[in-house]
Amino acid sequence: MDTATAIPANQASEKKIDKPRNFLDIRDFSHEELLYIIELTEKIKKGELDVTKVLSNKHFGLLFGSASTRTRVSFQVGIRQMGGFAEHLSTADLQLSNHENIKDTSAVLGRFLDGLIVRLYDMDQYGQGRENLKLISRYANIPIISALDDKDHPCQVMADLFTLKEKFGPEYKKKKLVFTWAYAERQKSPGVPHSMLSAASMLGMNVTFAHPKGFDLDKEYVEYAQAKIGASGGHLSFSNDLMEASENADVIYAKSWKAMYIPKEEEYKLRNKVRPYWTVSERHFKVANKGALFMNCLPIIRGEQATTEVIDRPDSILYDEAENRLHAQKAILYHLYKQ
Ligand code: CP
Repeated sequence: MDTATAIPANQASEKKIDKPRNFLDIRDFSHEELLYIIELTEKIKKGELDVTKVLSNKHFGLLFGSASTRTRVSFQVGIRQMGGFAEHLSTADLQLSNHENIKDTSAVLGRFLDGLIVRLYDMDQYGQGRENLKLISRYANIPIISALDDKDHPCQVMADLFTLKEKFGPEYKKKKLVFTWAYAERQKSPGVPHSMLSAASMLGMNVTFAHPKGFDLDKEYVEYAQAKIGASGGHLSFSNDLMEASENADVIYAKSWKAMYIPKEEEYKLRNKVRPYWTVSERHFKVANKGALFMNCLPIIRGEQATTEVIDRPDSILYDEAENRLHAQKAILYHLYKQ
């Protein structure tokens, strides 16, 4: 779906409607709320909190403009486990595909549903996905939860934070997390690194972002994190050398993202040029701390973002990370909907 052409420009200037709370950007939530969601996630996973009726008789739509395995299925299962109903709404099957605009679609869905989980982005127009989520929020007037847009992936990062705490205990913030760009053939959203940058700087984590020159993250997120990190007691650094960054790492998290400031054709050439240095391999784990963990939000193609050896190493926690999407999203829903 080309959502950009489906939305007349003048819609953006219409009157703002008071709306329920959304979950679009980590920075919209406080430090205390992030810690609370992590704590809730732990209780829910351990079965210490009964959430089975929190969404009783509530109906959710999963409005997805692109493919998903983890986000879609974990929300469908999680909402059902909380007593609610979840319907997958592929944009290809809605009248959006016949040029019904976002305003009409959102306003109507808002009359039927109690919440929308939305994945929309267009890799050619950075920021348009987020604008569309805001338009849906304005017209649907129900909570909108981001299932990944072109700026953030807050649900993924809440699950990642919990996974780190689960593996390391309360000291997880002190562990050296190397969040690295890694080669992928497919262009991917920078949503995960942006959300991690925000969360790490708010919570006071020890994080190094590594990427080749040209794959810098959005300046707005970098400046936000640099302003926050001092007061939170964390450590934030950036590197253009993955081998150097990996030294003494406790976690190496591989993730590909699109270069935001380079035209598509040039970016493709640059990605292929840097590939030999930016596939996570055992070489990187040799200089990391003993027992260092490997993380990736999945999907991953073996041999692209990381070697098969790394993906299948005993300290690879990809499936725990994926499972925790379910528990973390139930915690987010609890936080948004519990009366
Ligand atoms: N990590 C993640 O969002 O996976 P899906 O694209 O399968 O939802």
